[in-house]
Amino acid sequence: MKQIIITVDGPAASGKEKISKYICKKYKLKHLDTGILYRRLAYILINDKININNISNINKKIKKINSFSYQKSKRIRTQEISNLASKIAVHKCVRDFINKLQHEFVSCNKKARGFVIDGRDIGSVVFKNADLKLYIEVKPEIRAKRRYKQLIDSGEKSIYRKLLKDIKLRDYKDKNRTNSPLVIPKDAHIIDNNVSFSRTVKQINEIIFNL
Ligand code: C5P
Repeated sequence: MKQIIITVDGPAASGKEKISKYICKKYKLKHLDTGILYRRLAYILINDKININNISNINKKIKKINSFSYQKSKRIRTQEISNLASKIAVHKCVRDFINKLQHEFVSCNKKARGFVIDGRDIGSVVFKNADLKLYIEVKPEIRAKRRYKQLIDSGEKSIYRKLLKDIKLRDYKDKNRTNSPLVIPKDAHIIDNNVSFSRTVKQINEIIFNL
């Protein structure tokens, strides 16, 4: 049976993960958060003291990697790793490496009914023939406010203005890079996630119902 693929693209902190998990739970699909892969690679490069501005060094390191974890961990969710991940994501060799991992994830999970894959270029580049494409929109100020609350609630220190600045910078990098910039895929449904999660899922359920 054909496995369904739903792509969820959108800018940093737009709620892609929460939305993807919701769809996965409701429709019994498997989730892949592709940001984890960029973060994990950034973490490996920094740990191995690779100069991330030197493409040839990054390429050499990538070629030596023979196992790669798709698992989440607190260590790769830091603001430092967020910024580094967005820096390395501009390189073609990085994107090619991670695109391959994304396709492997799908081909290795033969028993899954389907997948919800979230990121920046999933509907526009990686899975162009997806069955359903969603693009999540939220104003930067609302994203920063939500991220700030999340951090404070989990006992971490944070400064709203710094979060907003980082989000805007990551948006700029994601939208303006040459390789796979963040764009609204041509055939995507735009989901407004500015108001509340219940309103957001209502939009998504209506789209899925009418497919
Ligand atoms: O989604 P998340 O914030 O975890 O992603 C970390 C960084 O990885 C993003 O800022 C973005 O630059 C990059 N990324 C990407 N393409 C993806 C997923 C993430 O360029 N598909």
